[in-house]
Amino acid sequence: MKVLAINSSARTDGQSKTKLMLDHLVEGMRDAGADVEVVELRKKKINNCIGCFTCWTKTPGVCLHNDDMTTELFPKFLGSDLAVFATPLYHFTVNAQLKTFIERTLPAIEPFFKERHGKTTHPLRGPHPGIVMLSVAGFPEYSVFDQLSAWANFVYGREGGLVAEIYRPLAEALPLAFVNEKAGEILEATRQAGREIVLSLKVSPETMQRITQDIVEDHRAFLRIGDLMWKTCIDQGVTPKEFDEKGMMPRPDSLEDFMAIMNIAFNPGADGNISAVIQYRFTGEVQGECHFRITDGRISSSNGPAEKPDLTISTPFELWMDIMAGKADGQQMFLEQKYTVEGDLNLLMRMSRLFGAQS
Ligand SMILES: Cc1cc2nc3c(=O)[nH]c(=O)nc-3n(C[C@H](O)[C@H](O)[C@H](O)COP(=O)(O)O)c2cc1C
Repeated sequence: MKVLAINSSARTDGQSKTKLMLDHLVEGMRDAGADVEVVELRKKKINNCIGCFTCWTKTPGVCLHNDDMTTELFPKFLGSDLAVFATPLYHFTVNAQLKTFIERTLPAIEPFFKERHGKTTHPLRGPHPGIVMLSVAGFPEYSVFDQLSAWANFVYGREGGLVAEIYRPLAEALPLAFVNEKAGEILEATRQAGREIVLSLKVSPETMQRITQDIVEDHRAFLRIGDLMWKTCIDQGVTPKEFDEKGMMPRPDSLEDFMAIMNIAFNPGADGNISAVIQYRFTGEVQGECHFRITDGRISSSNGPAEKPDLTISTPFELWMDIMAGKADGQQMFLEQKYTVEGDLNLLMRMSRLFGAQS
């Protein structure tokens, strides 16, 4: 089976969740014996369709543009058994790069009018690949893909036309350490979907269920952290990519948000099987005590003091939040005695590894 996998994300490796999902799908397809070529649309020159219908009249089946679509991609598309359209969900549909590609496949159809199931359509000029639609979205509800799915089914829904649809909401969570296990299952299921598509031209309901499962238990709490992340980006004048690269964390403005962020930022694999109780005593903007208990790679948080803390950090709340957001240097502030610690100093040194935004 020949597969052309088209990635239309404008983001590059490491940042693109479309690419992350596509890589796993493609691995599964190759496992099952398919010959898969991956095309990064952002590297290609594809002009907009100008609606001249030259490809329907003067040169049937051939576009008048002389660009990467005419010379390379369109022939490869028609020569494939399957094409994967991999796109980030933009404004609830495919992004512009993919739409431009799709509009430029007009030479694949003929101008004549044909009725199918009571609806007017155009016939295909010749063999056309089956389509696999793969998309990722920022919002958590699966229903964000309703419009895209309705459109894909309408356009490609003829017999054998739309082979599979793989949609992953809340995809920006995939690289976060605290969902490591779930993300691993989702990506493995995506790989499995690739195998199934090649072997049976469909994805089983079990595999689909594993791909679309909830990645976090509490969407609302997660989105609250998302809001704090955006607020921190705005305050610090950084993009989300720079936020990730600098290992920054969202800046909380309450004890509850602080505890939620520490739970999310905890890296279970960062420091072996560490067991520790870390206590905070906050003064200033937000006052109060809370503590975190780490055992067997899990973290739990509680309001109030701990019975036997291994480390107690006494600090103005705003100072610690500045340290977490990367605005202040934790070591420097310690040397300047802007905050104090009691207990295991070694644990303090390991904290930046234990709590980081990314896996
Ligand atoms: C211009 C633009 C429009 C977007 N529109 C939506 C949307 O309608 N619904 C949604 O859930 N996410 C939306 N998002 C979020 C992306 O779908 C999400 O960040 C996705 O992970 C991006 O994929 P990528 O990492 O491959 O670029 C949008 C992002 C951008 C930049």
